[in-house]
Amino acid sequence: MAVADTEALRDIAVLVARETAELVLDARADAITHVVTKSGETDIVTEADKAAERLIRDRLAELGPGQPVLGEEGGGPTDLRGLTWVVDPIDGTVNYLYGLPWYAVSVAAQMDGVSVAGAVVEPVSGRVWTATRGGGAWLDGTPLRVSSTTRLELALVGSGFAYERDRRRRQAAVIGEVAGRVRDLRRGGAASLDLCSVAAGWLDGYVEHGLHRWDWAAGALIAEEAGAVVRLPGDAIRDGLGADATFAAAPGIAEDLRATLVDAGIGSV
Ligand code: IPD
Ligand code: CA
Repeated sequence: MAVADTEALRDIAVLVARETAELVLDARADAITHVVTKSGETDIVTEADKAAERLIRDRLAELGPGQPVLGEEGGGPTDLRGLTWVVDPIDGTVNYLYGLPWYAVSVAAQMDGVSVAGAVVEPVSGRVWTATRGGGAWLDGTPLRVSSTTRLELALVGSGFAYERDRRRRQAAVIGEVAGRVRDLRRGGAASLDLCSVAAGWLDGYVEHGLHRWDWAAGALIAEEAGAVVRLPGDAIRDGLGADATFAAAPGIAEDLRATLVDAGIGSV
């Protein structure tokens, strides 16, 4: 795909994510009084998640007529050949519910299932994270670069947990093991922003199992374009990380972190 095309897709992603971020912020007071559950009592969706995804779909239909959309609340195509928009109206819904500012609107364009352009917008701070494939990653117009750390014992590592309780127990046990081998751990609660954090050097590495495509589609491109080693669900199995792992790390610690995670049993969470 031509550079100009990915930049045009990025511009649409930014526009739509920004407008949606405004809605999400304005709607919070009302939205958190209308919370329903999804896969379990702790997996929630607010009125704002639904309204935000409706807005994203409406705006994408105007700006890119006929282009399919896969989204957290409304689903979408399973055949990802060609161009597909992959969107998460609120990533970090639990943070949103509690009033923690670490949540985002994530909009990505994928070609044949591979992210080529994306934007992650934080409603509270207004920060705009973007990337185009081959064109670098940016935070509010400043280029992003992963950290230059080379020592795993000095690395700050992010992770997250699935909504399913038995699985999160296994994930926590593995991450607990890793805690003794790194500087410290973080659980931010929004996968898209965890990946952006690796891009900015705010984290040295990140791993999580069970993410959906809309959680990582924009953030993983931003991390990769900032120089991170990235493994996505489907390809992570080849490295022993497990079939549905999402992994991003600064090159200086990526192999040590991968080996440590494998040693801690991550392949079977
Ligand atoms: C969740 C967040 C969280 C991650 C979960 C995701 P949601 O997305 O990204 O950090 O640990 O796996 O499902 O439900 O807030 O859109
Ligand atoms: Ca999400």
